Amino acid sequence: MTTSAAGQSPRRAAAAEPFGLLRQPREVLFGTGQRAAVPSIVASLGKRVSIVTDERMTQDAFYHELREGLVAAGVTDVSVFDRTEPDLPLRTIDAAVGRIRAQRPDVLIGLGGGSCMDLAKVVAVLLTHGGSTRDYYGEFAVPGPTLPVVAIPTTAGTGSEVTPVAVLSDPDLTMKVGISSPHLIPYAAVVDPALTHSCPPGLTASVGADALAHVVESFTAIRHPATPGLSRERVFVGKGELTDQYALHGIELIGRSLRAAVDGGPGADTARSEMMMAALCGGFALGTAGTAAAHAFQYPVGAMTHTPHGVGVGVLLPYVMAFNGSRRPQEMARIAELLGVDAGANPTAAAVRAVADLLAAVKIPATLKDLGVRRDDLDTVAEQGLRAKRLVENNPVHLGPEEARELVENAFTGRLL
Ligand SMILES: NC(=O)c1ccc[n+]([C@@H]2O[C@H](COP(=O)([O-])OP(=O)(O)OC[C@H]3O[C@@H](n4cnc5c(N)ncnc54)[C@H](O)[C@@H]3O)[C@@H](O)[C@H]2O)c1
Repeated sequence: MTTSAAGQSPRRAAAAEPFGLLRQPREVLFGTGQRAAVPSIVASLGKRVSIVTDERMTQDAFYHELREGLVAAGVTDVSVFDRTEPDLPLRTIDAAVGRIRAQRPDVLIGLGGGSCMDLAKVVAVLLTHGGSTRDYYGEFAVPGPTLPVVAIPTTAGTGSEVTPVAVLSDPDLTMKVGISSPHLIPYAAVVDPALTHSCPPGLTASVGADALAHVVESFTAIRHPATPGLSRERVFVGKGELTDQYALHGIELIGRSLRAAVDGGPGADTARSEMMMAALCGGFALGTAGTAAAHAFQYPVGAMTHTPHGVGVGVLLPYVMAFNGSRRPQEMARIAELLGVDAGANPTAAAVRAVADLLAAVKIPATLKDLGVRRDDLDTVAEQGLRAKRLVENNPVHLGPEEARELVENAFTGRLL
């Protein structure tokens, strides 16, 4: 083996070299009241605009402000698709494309939770490149740039406003499926925490658990060899120096603010604002680093139990951390510390306990059994979770059939450590 001038093997020197990649929207605006900037951003992109949202949102004062603001900013043609359904079934995408295509919009606004923003992203792909949604499943299947999307989140959870992925439900597949491409990243994200004030406690908790899973899973993800081809071979490239900064900030904010945002007492507005920033940081982190096993096993669990995405990843997260701890001891110590717990001699135990306590405090169930999974379903959960290849490959510890079965068994029985 040859050695470098510093006496290190070339392999070791390469491993120590920092690697960083960020893929982000052209413009990201954060702050209470920033929603008022949306009309001018949109009007700078064209005069024909389609708003992709859901029925709840059309009852919200902001929706009406937005429509008036768009007209005042010179937008001449506004159409609305307000039939987005949670978890984005394929039929919703077909209905949206059918409704919007004839208008030939210049720009799409995705207004709502992750389901509405993901729908806007998929509609932009289909209106630009044609074909059917199924043509674009997987990574790098979108051939080029799409119509611009301006994303406006109303939940503090998914981070979809800045990510290169849309997640949908296909009735012919047992699990949800992703379309992942840098071309899916919205043109602009306008992130106004006031839009989350209407979220009830259960929704705030479930989307907050999703944001927590994003920052923890991207911070503890696999570290791929930093070859020059990495960013072209994978949409989600694993742990890196730049995404770590977003993940760390997000973990700290969630530790400080998730409980207060869910409780809704005095100081809740500040807590909601911090959760919105945490969710945005989660989007930056996951959008480049990627998530891992908690997200992989949520797919079959969600399909079986019809429980929200965030609740499922929240249940699974502490068990996945316990499984991965031996490979990420320093990261576990940082997570524990940021959540206000002394890492002590066993950082994994401290981090797992801190995350489990935080999730229990906002009433995320403790086990898959509590979520409605049956013991007979565990083989299926393990098998199907492993099929989410991009997520499984992003886990820092190898997951084969045996490891997967043991992990879901632990998550079913509540054996954390
Ligand atoms: N693209 C990504 O990067 C990404 C990341 C994580 C999750 N996801 C996907 O996002 C979806 C979940 O998104 P979500 O958790 O934001 O929920 P959602 O968009 O499915 O909405 C859930 C419910 O919350 C309601 N809601 C939204 N905002 C509200 C508000 N301010 N006040 C009251 N009610 C409100 C909606 O009307 C809906 O009934 C899933 O399909 C998930 O797979 C996508």
